[in-house]
Amino acid sequence: MKPDSDSSSEYAKVRLPPGPSGSWRPTLQLIRNPRRALESWAREYGDPFLLNALNGPVVVTGREDLIRTIHGQDPSIYAPFATPTIIPLMGNGSMLILEGEPHRRERRLMMPMFHGDRMKAYGANMQQCATTQFEAHRARASSIVTLDLMTDISLEVIVRTIFGGNDRELATRLMDASRKVVASSSPLLFFSKKTHLPFFGFSPWDQWRKAKSQLFKLLDEVIEQRQQSTSQSDDILSMLCGATYEDGQSITREHIYSELMTFLFAGHETTALSLTWAIYHLHKNPLALSSLRQELDSLADESPTNLSSAPYLKATIQETLRIHPILTETLRKLKAPLQLGDYLLPAGMAVAPATVLAHHNPITYKEPELFRPERFIERSYSPFEYMPFGGGHRRCIGAAFASYEMAIVLGTIIKRYELELVDSKPVVPKRRNVTIGPSSGVPIRVLSRRFTDE
Ligand code: HEM
Repeated sequence: MKPDSDSSSEYAKVRLPPGPSGSWRPTLQLIRNPRRALESWAREYGDPFLLNALNGPVVVTGREDLIRTIHGQDPSIYAPFATPTIIPLMGNGSMLILEGEPHRRERRLMMPMFHGDRMKAYGANMQQCATTQFEAHRARASSIVTLDLMTDISLEVIVRTIFGGNDRELATRLMDASRKVVASSSPLLFFSKKTHLPFFGFSPWDQWRKAKSQLFKLLDEVIEQRQQSTSQSDDILSMLCGATYEDGQSITREHIYSELMTFLFAGHETTALSLTWAIYHLHKNPLALSSLRQELDSLADESPTNLSSAPYLKATIQETLRIHPILTETLRKLKAPLQLGDYLLPAGMAVAPATVLAHHNPITYKEPELFRPERFIERSYSPFEYMPFGGGHRRCIGAAFASYEMAIVLGTIIKRYELELVDSKPVVPKRRNVTIGPSSGVPIRVLSRRFTDE
């Protein structure tokens, strides 16, 4: 493999770690069972190791010191990974593919929309979505598929946060269209641009494009309405339509599409999968469930403010994201050489902090297989040991929003209902697209309602 750098002296100094040979086989192994594949390569070749993935060579590490090195670099040495694969999926303006100054100014523009006081304004909406969706699912069948419930909740939360909460009919249409986009996102589309091929309307690419164009048609309608409206709204779409960068330039329609797609995509499936895992682990671990119940029962009320500051609830969410990171690794492409431990990596190669390796390191986390929220109360972990939201200049922009939402949704449901798992079979991680989620929908039964609304 030849590095992008044109300097032959630099090329001579390059020293790469060993790793599995071939490209198709390791990529398929990574798609099929990322944790098993990453752990077995780290055992066989050491940490870090080199993976020649279909979308480019990547040096992978779960070591704290090396992750610190990666996140500690000047962001200008990094470009996003697999941009040619992501652009056709998310569009040119998505934060996921911007780099350098455009990426920095995009984050500065968007950050306030998902932070601090603004975020707290969404709390009541999150709680209302949780209770109405829970009751709707409960009325429909004798058991509830947790993943379906959590998907409906997180989709409604993000749709209402982005588009405003007043028009229920519009919210339902947006939720249906977004659900179809997520359902059509085959994992292969994210791993190689070679899979972006039409086939008489039946290929994964055709399915994705069809779902995406339906959603875009709807977005067009909504943006049109919003731009013509004279009334003031404080939802994210209205903020985006009126937003200007530091230099006074406003954001284009194409760009709004890209960011809306990014928020819809990045912002709901991740949260739904994490909430599903939390319900599963709490009901597999009666001690953890009873500690959480005790804490929730001791709260004066279940207001979003109280729930979001309850320590055991927070630790439960942290432990869920530790044991099952939704993205098993995060990626950056090098624009300049990087000294990573004993290795000198050339420009053109990518580096990947492997969250799943760091989160299951038995030196950092004693008995890493155990679900034990207490570990987050007993001590704190560095951002290079614990990173469910990634790190450095690309750390998830929705981290605070997602943590807040999970506390409110999980706290409200556990405080209000006595539940049990319908199926005693173990649930294991399984790839969905770029995300990893539970292998089943985690069906639950409601045993009783613990109290009625005052
Ligand atoms: C439990 C829920 C979530 C998890 C586990 C999660 C995880 C992640 C991770 C691992 C990254 C990559 C970070 C990196 O490369 O270092 C990321 C990026 C991102 N996330 Fe999240 N996320 C969640 C929720 C959300 C929400 C609710 C939103 C928005 C509403 C969001 C928007 C984004 C965006 C825009 C990026 C790209 C940031 C950039 O490239 O600068 N995420 N997320």
